This record gives sequence, structure tokens and C-alpha cells, in this order.
Amino acid sequence: MAKTPVQFRLNGSDKAVFVDGGQNLLDVLRRGVGDMSSKYGCGQGTCGVCTVLIDGEPQLACLTLAETCGGRAIETALGLSDGPNLHPLQAAFMEHFAAQCGFCTSGMLMAAKALLDRNASPTREEVAEAISGNICRCTGYEPIVNAILDAASKRDGARAEGEGRARI
Ligand code: FES
Ligand code: FES
Repeated sequence: MAKTPVQFRLNGSDKAVFVDGGQNLLDVLRRGVGDMSSKYGCGQGTCGVCTVLIDGEPQLACLTLAETCGGRAIETALGLSDGPNLHPLQAAFMEHFAAQCGFCTSGMLMAAKALLDRNASPTREEVAEAISGNICRCTGYEPIVNAILDAASKRDGARAEGEGRARI
């Protein structure tokens, strides 16, 4: 079968791959470029474990045709930390025991990141809505919602502190 060359940015790095017609982005991420952070769960758009950001929007990689990703910026959970420094969402998930088996966690983190990137101070209801497409079999969701709200409040606090310092 003829393959199509596709180039995209993954967590800030350029990637060039050949993809099959009909091949989904999740498969390309995991088998094509070796980013295993996005998980394969249902493979049909119902569990959310494959959630990635494409140009900042949360998308299900299992339902995204890889051919449509040319020139797009893709973010996965692998790109969240800065070396040894965890992203505030990752730190909050740890502090709130929001990951148990961890299978849903990368998708949850990316859905949460998409929310906080567009809404720095979400309500509990907005957080619940943002992760409503992500299934977790372990936590009962409460620790996850608490972690996301905590990460938002800490980021808000850090921002306010920075602005205060800038005014001095
Ligand atoms: S694997 Fe993509 S939604 Fe379940
Ligand atoms: S932590 Fe196990 S599915 Fe969410």
C-alpha cells in the first residue's frame, strides 16, 4: 500500500514519518515515533485514554487520521515535564493520589491541560465537563477533579506573585 509522508511537531520537535492510508495518529505516535505516553484503550472514541492536544485542542488520537496531522502541533503527556521538573498538573496528580493504575492518567492530564490553557480558573463543574470524555476505573474521579483545581489555583497564585514582583 502506498505510504504518505507526514511532518508534524511533537512536543516542540519536528517529526517526519510515512503513514498508511487510514492509519490513526495513536498508532503513529506509539509505533511510528515511539511516544508511548498516549494509551490504547477502546480504539473507538469512548474511553479518552488516547487524548492528545492538536494545535491546543483535545482530540482522540485513535480517531484522528495521521494523514490529517501534517503541519500540526501535537502535544502528549510525554512533553509535560521539563526535565526532572514535573508539570503542575503532574505534581498535583501525585499529591492528590489522582493516579492509581495510571492507565487513564495521560489522557486525563492532556484533557486537563487543554482546559487550564484556555481557562486558568475553572469551576469544579467546568473541570468535570472537561474530563467527561475520559473514563477512570480506579479513582472515582474526585481526586482527579481536586488535583486539577489545585494545579489551577497554584498556577494562579504563582502568576499573581510574579505580577506583584514585577510591580515592585
Ligand atoms: S482509545 Fe481512543 S478513545 Fe479509547
Ligand atoms: S487510575 Fe486506573 S483507570 Fe484511572
